[in-house]
Amino acid sequence: MDPKPASGSESHLTWIVAPQDLNIHGTLFGGQLLALMDRVAAIAAMRHSRQNCVTVSIDKVDFVAPVRHGYLLDVSARIHFTARTSMEIYVDAWAEEPLSGERTHVCEAFFSFVAVDKQLRPIAIPQVALETQRDQQLNAEARKRYEERKAGHSVTRSAIRRPQ
Ligand SMILES: CC(C)(COP(=O)(O)OP(=O)(O)OC[C@H]1O[C@@H](n2cnc3c(N)ncnc32)[C@H](O)[C@@H]1OP(=O)(O)O)[C@@H](O)C(=O)NCCC(=O)NCCS
Repeated sequence: MDPKPASGSESHLTWIVAPQDLNIHGTLFGGQLLALMDRVAAIAAMRHSRQNCVTVSIDKVDFVAPVRHGYLLDVSARIHFTARTSMEIYVDAWAEEPLSGERTHVCEAFFSFVAVDKQLRPIAIPQVALETQRDQQLNAEARKRYEERKAGHSVTRSAIRRPQ
């Protein structure tokens, strides 16, 4: 499979924060924001792999600032790391006051997705071709996390395996 550029699958969503999106404080419910971010990341994962994809992990979610009722929300997702069947995607969200246009960074997170076949088994994906210095930087950090997790994974799995 030929590598595919990160920009080719970059995905965006714009949302207006309405009453049904609010928490008891009258600001955007964090779960709703995460759901929107998951959705945009899933679109980027599917566009990159041209396969069905499932969320396998959400890492380091930072809610930086509240989002108020009536604000516009821009959510973007861009892939910076691929392994055999999995990919890591940086997702960030910006809130915009609709009258002034003033924008505030409100959330970021790293999503991992796995491409799956019809039986929901992991399936190989094309590698991502990095295009920017930021892609390179995120890729190096993601590779380190991937390798650390792979090393930790086998330990955890064997430790929790039930006795025969
Ligand atoms: C995704 C899923 C099919 C992977 O199954 P699995 O048995 O862990 O498969 P594997 O161990 O072969 O791992 C497959 C890939 O997932 C990656 N992976 C597994 N767990 C991971 C985690 N916690 N974080 C990041 N990547 C992970 C592996 O590194 C591997 O990537 P690679 O092929 O690029 O090296 C399985 O975990 C699953 O179905 N999860 C539920 C997904 C879902 O329903 N999501 C929606 C939640 S609401």
